[in-house]
Amino acid sequence: MMSSMVLLLVLAQVTDWTTEERRLASTFTPVPAAPKSLTNRFADDPNAAAVGVRLFHDERLSANGKISCAHCHRVEHAFTDQKRVAVGLGTGTRNTMSLLDVAHVRQPFWDGAADSLWMQALEPFEAPLEHGIDRVTVLRKIIEDDPLRKAFTKVFGALPDVSDHSRFPPATPRLEAPVALREAWSRMEAEDQALVNAAYANVGKAIEAFERTLVSPPAPFDAFAAALASGDDQAAARAISPAAQRGFRIFLAVGCRNCHSGPRFTDEGFHSNGTPPTAGQRPDPGRWLGHPKVLRSAFRADGLYSDDRASDQARGTASTPRQPDMVGTFRTPTLRHLEHTGPYMHDGSMSSLIEVVRHYNRLEGAMLDHHGEALLQPLGLDEPSELDLVAFLRSLSVQVDR
Ligand code: HEC
Ligand code: HEC
Repeated sequence: MMSSMVLLLVLAQVTDWTTEERRLASTFTPVPAAPKSLTNRFADDPNAAAVGVRLFHDERLSANGKISCAHCHRVEHAFTDQKRVAVGLGTGTRNTMSLLDVAHVRQPFWDGAADSLWMQALEPFEAPLEHGIDRVTVLRKIIEDDPLRKAFTKVFGALPDVSDHSRFPPATPRLEAPVALREAWSRMEAEDQALVNAAYANVGKAIEAFERTLVSPPAPFDAFAAALASGDDQAAARAISPAAQRGFRIFLAVGCRNCHSGPRFTDEGFHSNGTPPTAGQRPDPGRWLGHPKVLRSAFRADGLYSDDRASDQARGTASTPRQPDMVGTFRTPTLRHLEHTGPYMHDGSMSSLIEVVRHYNRLEGAMLDHHGEALLQPLGLDEPSELDLVAFLRSLSVQVDR
């Protein structure tokens, strides 16, 4: 009895790792330090981060006084809300993204609608379905709060005096904002607009400094991959379950790494994985709509408010022309933290990891003709193999205690 159980366990273990599998394992670990954020000279300033964390949790920075960034990006859920799509002032169409290790992200949002984290942070405030306010009002709320204003000006210098409501009405040039706010903006003097934008950019820079501190510890997979790469198979076998080990072998074999490559399991590129459109809704055009948002933003990495307009980061998105093959593509998401970040995909349409794996395995109803993504084929995996792949994906998550 005893001996047959031991035999079963031994059989279940992967023991014959190839040289190529060992080499590939080393490409997935460890997660390196995040790159510098050259377009934000406050990015690694702890005082800026201290302002950023306050802004991140500040519910006053919303039309109803109830929505902060943390309303959707909850610490206990790896900075997601675990909802299908986000709910702020209204219900959106996209799934909330995790902020763990977000400092690695160069083109934030599912559709790459920003080219820096500080630019990204300025969007939700003025999004009608999220915080629903405007940049002038954001500045005014900071100025009204004495300790916050002091902390802010200590890092970024004096805030503009926006107390004259006829010169500085609630206003934004943002296309999605209510007409009244856009008209108020267009009536403002150009110099006053510039004063507001310069201070507003610093709001984003403070928040980015905070976000850069959200670094997750290594996952069980990291111990496994490091051991495998160094030839210590016993340590590898102890690090993750036999199912997860078999799942890793399948992951390598079926081509997931064509897009989910490197220590964060993403090529940072934009692809379609064939996610079927949400029933009753038009397909989301993805990067086709995201890319021009960067091009027309005042807060571009190569724009007036950037601290390094010539950096690679600044040249990246702005120099890429809009192309038809961007339609229906989304940024390849990281596969770390999945245990805490479901539901999955840009529209939250898949509620569990087994559902995701079955999607790739069968490609039922997949939208593949649309953009000619040649990398996806039905995989022909049996059910135990599907479960192994899920066990592997789970080994990439760490329990982050609040
Ligand atoms: C109503 C819920 C909601 C609120 C409030 C909200 N977010 Fe988000 N956040 C989302 C959703 C949904 C996405 C993905 C949106 C998309 O791609 O179109 C997202 C994406 C992001 C991303 C991109 C991550 C990546 O990997 O690309 C960052 C960073 C972020 N939010 C930070 C913030 C900050 C900072 C605030 C406050 C100023 C904020 N969010 C407020 C729901 C929210
Ligand atoms: C052609 C590139 C590509 C390939 C190959 C690919 N993926 Fe993806 N993956 C993506 C993209 C793009 C998304 C986001 C799609 C969306 O939101 O519509 C994604 C989403 C996911 C998600 C959801 C993550 C989240 O946070 O919502 C998981 C899990 C995943 N992929 C696992 C896999 C596995 C396992 C394989 C191999 C069987 C695989 N992927 C193969 C590009 C790819």
